[in-house]
Amino acid sequence: MINSANQADSAKRRSELVRAPESIVFSGDGEPQSPESIVGRLNSMLTAGDLHPDTYSLGGSVEAFERRMADELGKEAAIWMPTGTLANHLALRRHSGTNARVVLQEQSHIYQDEGDALARLSGLNAIPLAKGKPYFTVAELQEAMRSSVTGRVLNPVSAVSIESPVRRQAGQILPWDEMQSITHICKQEGIPVHLDGARLYMMSASTGVGVKEYSELFDSVYISTWKYFGSPFGAILAGTSEFIDGMFHDRRMFGGGLPSGYLATALSMNGMDGFVDRFSESLTKAKALFANLNKLPGIEIHQFEHGSNVFELRLGDDINTDQFVESLLDFKIVIPWLKSEWPLPLLHVNSSILRRSNDEIVEAFTSVLSARL
Ligand SMILES: Cc1ncc(COP(=O)(O)O)c(C=O)c1O
Repeated sequence: MINSANQADSAKRRSELVRAPESIVFSGDGEPQSPESIVGRLNSMLTAGDLHPDTYSLGGSVEAFERRMADELGKEAAIWMPTGTLANHLALRRHSGTNARVVLQEQSHIYQDEGDALARLSGLNAIPLAKGKPYFTVAELQEAMRSSVTGRVLNPVSAVSIESPVRRQAGQILPWDEMQSITHICKQEGIPVHLDGARLYMMSASTGVGVKEYSELFDSVYISTWKYFGSPFGAILAGTSEFIDGMFHDRRMFGGGLPSGYLATALSMNGMDGFVDRFSESLTKAKALFANLNKLPGIEIHQFEHGSNVFELRLGDDINTDQFVESLLDFKIVIPWLKSEWPLPLLHVNSSILRRSNDEIVEAFTSVLSARL
């Protein structure tokens, strides 16, 4: 058993290891960042003349990034937001107009992790579907649409929001066919549909469906620009010009018209360069690594049927998971284990896996396994 003093030591050790340049960090979706890496990159960008100040998030590197992302996502326009929470909120608020029902997944960040902001800040009523599951079906959506127009008061669905990959469901995704059907129904019914694609790039690398192809199905798309593009915070919301037009007023009204947004957006632009290739290489390497690890006795790295870059660590009954995960730290391999979020440890694949050879990583697992078995 690990007592609380040990736990504090372990947490400190972990945070140091997450920042160490040779660590394999199975946490987060991008290259792990540190104060040193952020300042170092800003310095190089300053030297290269890549930092262009904005005014309250208008112009400069912010605008350049917005244009690049609109193009990248195949949308007419995009706006930078300081957080994904705000991007989701403002998208659904604008889509809803004077209607009030937003259909979403019960497991979504918007429903679970945004403090009922839809109701409290914008008078929108969230209708959660698919409790405890990654996604809802077309039939469930149709029923929600039907029941909102057959009550005593006509109260049509104002917007549908889809999160994929689903953070609370170990990064599982809405399969492409289902996504096509759901967005098709929304179009047929004239109901705007929004993608919380915080990790759209992880989904695209896993399925081979391009980010533009995904984006095309939706009226608006949000992606995170800090989770894997190496900026400290930020998000992009993309859609038609009409949708994005004037949105900077909403952003400012909600306190999100940040001065000096250029620091974050310039870092995102810098982090985007080469990201897709690096991430795809990381995922391919991880799959080869996991296939090798699965040959060892007492361990299975499970790939979800509709998974993204998140894999489940399954250990034999005779192996103490706490100790296993702790012992891997001796080999500078960091696996997070947030027991309150998922019953088994989850391995998030990112580019830190490229730092060492698969043979070396297998050797580390082998040695920890042999000590525990
Ligand atoms: C799926 C999803 N949507 C939205 C957000 C919110 O992003 P932010 O932390 O930038 O507000 C997150 C962040 O964890 C997320 O995982």
